[in-house]
Amino acid sequence: MRFQISVLPGDGIGPEVTTEAIRVLETVGQKFGHTFELTEDLVGGISIDKHGTALRPETAEMCRRSHALLFGAVGGPKWDDPESNVRPEDGLLAIRKAMGLWANLRPVKVYKFLENAGPLKPEIVRGVDIMVLRELTGGLYFAKPKKRWNTSRGRRGVDTLKYEEREIERILRAGFELARGRKKKLTSVDKANVLETSRLWRQIAIELSPEYPDIAIDHMLVDNCAMQLVQNPRKFDVIVSENTFGDILSDEAAVLAGSMGMLPSASLSGVPDASGRRRARGMYEPVHGSAPDIAGQGKANPLAAILSTGLMLRYSLGLIQEADCIERAVDQVLKNGIYTPDLTEPGKPSIDTSKMGKTVAEAVLGN
Ligand code: IPM
Ligand code: MG
Repeated sequence: MRFQISVLPGDGIGPEVTTEAIRVLETVGQKFGHTFELTEDLVGGISIDKHGTALRPETAEMCRRSHALLFGAVGGPKWDDPESNVRPEDGLLAIRKAMGLWANLRPVKVYKFLENAGPLKPEIVRGVDIMVLRELTGGLYFAKPKKRWNTSRGRRGVDTLKYEEREIERILRAGFELARGRKKKLTSVDKANVLETSRLWRQIAIELSPEYPDIAIDHMLVDNCAMQLVQNPRKFDVIVSENTFGDILSDEAAVLAGSMGMLPSASLSGVPDASGRRRARGMYEPVHGSAPDIAGQGKANPLAAILSTGLMLRYSLGLIQEADCIERAVDQVLKNGIYTPDLTEPGKPSIDTSKMGKTVAEAVLGN
């Protein structure tokens, strides 16, 4: 089959890890007989430097027209001035909005060999396998009014937390569907003891649950969820939450995995199913940022970008076998003890970004 894929490598280590993701993607194409037509463009700081904006309308249009988008990372100290009215992150928010990517999937899986890598005790994180599902185009991030101004009593700022019923319903349904393909547990996170939007959220969740009798749903306040994520993370299967809570909880959950360099993500415009029959347009990016401190040194771990490519095959292209093949290849490489510096104990040997990409590509051909 033939697929059109947009590629926005972005800033910092974005281009390095994206190169390796593409290497693996092309190897999959070769092995299974698919053609991936890639079109690359600028996003983030590099786009600000060249075009004065973090995302040009024609770039957004190109992404909208393709089957899926591979995204690297954006940002860096060069573009950090809070007084500036253009920011690399605007490119990310704009693409989410332009492609209608309302469902953000952030799987957090603790690999056996990484049980000791993070700050939590291995017996706490062992076997953790969580899907954080974050609403991505509503809430505090986008609702109006959103501004800063001067008043006679000093400066004032406002952001707005607003949700429409249909926005809440579709993300909750996505949560139920995802739980169905996993351990059938859904934790709906809110702050219903304080926020009206959360009370609406909880009400809709309760109304929908009879349609999913096979799913055990529980409702958890976000502060309690933050605590339980580090106290007893194994109890979670799918966590569904609004935009800002999901932003915070997904960073917290990422710590469980030991290294940010392992975590992929998918941002979708619809709800795919596990069989691959129903697909959704989406953007795929590593959870880690642009890491300007290590950019250009070959130290970055490309596995998050490579695993994101796997999610793309699974959710947007319906290529399930191919996605499984990538995940198997990554497992094999790690089992063989081949690591990038972020996964290696001090003093032990490691390989660089492109060697890791090549090693995974070989494992794809061999498995
Ligand atoms: C994320 C990031 C972004 C967000 C920033 C960079 C705008 O933190 O993807 O989690 O807050 O959504
Ligand atoms: Mg974040």
